[in-house]
Amino acid sequence: MNILVTGGAGFIGSHTVVALTEAGFRPIILDDFSNSEKSVLDGLEQITGSKPTTYAENCHNRETLRRIFKEEKIEGVIHFAAFKAVGESMQKPLEYYDNNLGSLIVLLQTMLECGVSNLIFSSSCTVYGEPDELPVTEKTPVKPASSVYGNTKQIGEEILHDTIEAGNALKIISLRYFNPIGAHPSAAIGELPRGVPSNLVPFMIQTAAGLRESLTIFGDDYPTPDGTCIRDYIHVLDLAEAHVAALQFLLKKDVSGYYDIFNVGTGRGASVMELIKSFEQVAGVPLNYKLGPRRSGDVTAVYADVQKCTEQLGWKAKRSMQDALADAWRWQLAITAQR
Ligand code: WQD
Repeated sequence: MNILVTGGAGFIGSHTVVALTEAGFRPIILDDFSNSEKSVLDGLEQITGSKPTTYAENCHNRETLRRIFKEEKIEGVIHFAAFKAVGESMQKPLEYYDNNLGSLIVLLQTMLECGVSNLIFSSSCTVYGEPDELPVTEKTPVKPASSVYGNTKQIGEEILHDTIEAGNALKIISLRYFNPIGAHPSAAIGELPRGVPSNLVPFMIQTAAGLRESLTIFGDDYPTPDGTCIRDYIHVLDLAEAHVAALQFLLKKDVSGYYDIFNVGTGRGASVMELIKSFEQVAGVPLNYKLGPRRSGDVTAVYADVQKCTEQLGWKAKRSMQDALADAWRWQLAITAQR
């Protein structure tokens, strides 16, 4: 069964291509490579034995989508393609709204036109903002977004909800990701942040590899046990497998219109300091880090209640934070060696 993976050359997208292949699907990638590398396709070939069919185009393009839906007999779509840098989104709001929401609307219209009915949407725990309760469930109130990026995810979920409320024959799941980390254990694919990484794990492993002077911990005066922020760090392969479980759930769902939301995390919170200490233990190298001021927009703590995903989709994270850090480190050593 052919599944279109928009943004399929990206970090989560490429790992989902592996998980789809291993589950017997035929993933087809649509990626404009604006924030990913073509070398990812070689890594996918190394892991799965074949290079996925790839369209190096933008999913904002209606004609492109029509052609792919018809020629490739697509039966489902996993939509990762979006700009996702929180800081950048505040500098370029119109580009973010146009790209993230414009492409979602074009995708939905073209799916309806071509009779493609199954969609998995990439959402984010960022919609919870600073939650009043922990762990967060899918019923935890969505807070006003603290970034344009977060707002595109919130509005994206509203567009999906309203599309189904209007009676359109689509079956849609939004997956709210927590903090994806790690890499494929083969080290053939992994996270490829462009420029200076804003996320903790890529910056940390580049520091350990000697590419960065030191890691700055953004604040240790939060109301948490060790003063540093708490997040739910999930292995990217567990997250990828959640997409396969959600797709299989939709394919079995014998209804015309369906929309629901699922948290995808481990259900465990870990602080920045805990993650640093775990990394040093797993990698066997000391990390050079220092304390700095809080980063604006950071929430104190957010981690998932994953009961709904486990009960309804039959999915649960299998890998530990230590597994993810070991795989991320192996990946960093592999790409450093290639330089
Ligand atoms: C994690 C923790 C930082 C870097 C963001 C998006 C989210 C998703 C994942 C796209 C925080 C601390 C970080 C550093 C640090 N992105 N930190 N020093 O902000 O939880 O989530 O990325 O979908 O939507 O909001 O992830 O990795 O940036 O930060 O101390 O150099 O690490 O303060 O507490 P975040 P992160």
